[in-house]
Amino acid sequence: MKKLCKFLSYALLTLVVLLVVGISLTIGWRPILGPKARPLTARQFEATPQRLQRGHYIATALSGCTTGCHAPRNLSAAGGFVAPGMEGAGQVMPIPTLPGRVVAPNLTPDPQTGAGNWTDDQLARAIREGIGHDGRTLFPFMPYPNFRSMSDEDLASVIVYLRSLPPVHHELPATEIIFPVKYLMRSAPEPITEAVAAPDRSDPVKYGRYLVTLGSCRECHTPQEKGQAVPGMELAGGFTVAESGLSAATANLTSDASGISYYDEALFIQALRTGYVKARKLSPLMPIDVYKNLSDDDLKAMFAYLRTLTPVKHRVDNSLPPTYCKLCRMKHGGGDQN
Ligand code: HEC
Repeated sequence: MKKLCKFLSYALLTLVVLLVVGISLTIGWRPILGPKARPLTARQFEATPQRLQRGHYIATALSGCTTGCHAPRNLSAAGGFVAPGMEGAGQVMPIPTLPGRVVAPNLTPDPQTGAGNWTDDQLARAIREGIGHDGRTLFPFMPYPNFRSMSDEDLASVIVYLRSLPPVHHELPATEIIFPVKYLMRSAPEPITEAVAAPDRSDPVKYGRYLVTLGSCRECHTPQEKGQAVPGMELAGGFTVAESGLSAATANLTSDASGISYYDEALFIQALRTGYVKARKLSPLMPIDVYKNLSDDDLKAMFAYLRTLTPVKHRVDNSLPPTYCKLCRMKHGGGDQN
């Protein structure tokens, strides 16, 4: 009896050790303990004309907060996909491939259905650190891992701009992510406790990298497996975007011959401003409605950065039927030619 007790207690100890090591090495403890979050502060961002203008530019043209995601949109509508007067009013994301119901909340200052009662720091923490106003982990489809590099001044500008929107009463349901993603995603938030400096604008490549990050180009243009970027394929395309019955694979933006080696600055500006590459019309799934308002200088900086990417040989062609691609392990037009 004594021997059995001893054996059982050893077995139990081994099991506990294995479990602790197993969790530490695989999913980590955040799914169980909850996300990393810092306490809120009472900071407030002073509204200035410069901040209002810069915030408007980031929220509507670069990051597309109020025009790309946080607004009911219709990709097939002529003359812009956001219904007039609904910028920032939020929507249930109409994307069938998401793990559950993902709601981009109403960010207008409406006190009942919007962000009217959220403090500046609640918004700041949500945008860059992934913790909602109510302490909940935000599903990282909200690109807070990218927005971590948003400078303090740009962050203040976005929040000043959101405060200036006309309040829209627009009730939305809550986000509901399926098991086990709703626990696993708790590892994504990371607090920011140090100052984030403004990017160096005198270096187009560095500034271009900043803009490409805030513009979330990688989110669509880098192929991914279970939400993780496929290594060695940064911005090399092949990921399929689907929404409202439309679907298209993203383009290879590297300068390999299978990518956009034939682009020059002028063609890049034309593509992002008009949605046409010479006579070829791009699918509305490439969000031109957002990027068309980027300045020439910013588009040039983005292009300078794209030119520094490692060229990746990866053919993606939406005029061909989707086939399996062994390079990005996804299905897309021209996949069988890779
Ligand atoms: C929501 C997903 C999404 C995001 C975000 C996105 N793109 Fe795209 N992009 C697409 C899709 C889909 C296509 C393919 C469209 C087609 O083939 O008709 C595309 C095509 C393009 C093309 C055309 C390439 C060609 O075939 O000539 C360029 C250039 C481009 N994207 C640049 C960018 C840049 C730069 C950014 C960031 C500022 C960006 N995209 C962000 C989805 C996206």
